[in-house]
Amino acid sequence: MKKLIFASGNKGKVEEVKKIFENDKYEIISLHDLDNAPEIVEDGDTFEANARIKAEIIFNKFGLPTIADDSGLAVEQLDGAPGVYSARYAFEGCTYDDNNKKLLTELKNLPEPHIAKFVCCAVYLDEKNYLSSIGEVHGKIIKERRGTMGFGYDPIFLPDNFEKTLAELNLEEKNSISHRSVAFNKLKKQILVAERKR
Ligand code: IMP
Repeated sequence: MKKLIFASGNKGKVEEVKKIFENDKYEIISLHDLDNAPEIVEDGDTFEANARIKAEIIFNKFGLPTIADDSGLAVEQLDGAPGVYSARYAFEGCTYDDNNKKLLTELKNLPEPHIAKFVCCAVYLDEKNYLSSIGEVHGKIIKERRGTMGFGYDPIFLPDNFEKTLAELNLEEKNSISHRSVAFNKLKKQILVAERKR
């Protein structure tokens, strides 16, 4: 098994990414599995800048091939907000529920549908390669929370052509359409090509 560090401590993401890599001879080590994982300040302006910051800090500290991602929700009527601020949209240190409340308040007086997309930038870094890839899932924000699976804005995001929110889909179903799975599946192919060139 080849070890890959996933520079994330977000339980929801770690579960999704482990599933994506599980059949490809990769062992995913998350920040939960490492002692002395450094504090990461995500102060980039783009998803890719933030993903790269995470990958560089962790690769420089542990010296193992590292994957990282940065992701968020972009709502059309809010000019792409919350975007790179998705994790701390309501306030610094807030819960997922605080963010969902804030988003629903912002959208309360705007006409439906509230068209939105999730975006994920996934990156890979080792001593020779920096690779990156983007994934998106399109849909709309609904008024009532539905479902208990997933994390973040999943209970209020209805993907196009689905009658269930992302929080009503199980891990496999979410991974068949999500921004993160699109980005990491593309990244995985790039990693395999880079490994063959060695
Ligand atoms: P970061 O990528 O860890 O900086 O944070 C991304 C934030 O965007 C999360 O804390 C969630 O609020 C939101 N987000 C990203 N991906 C998803 C997803 O798959 N479902 C729901 N919310 C997500």
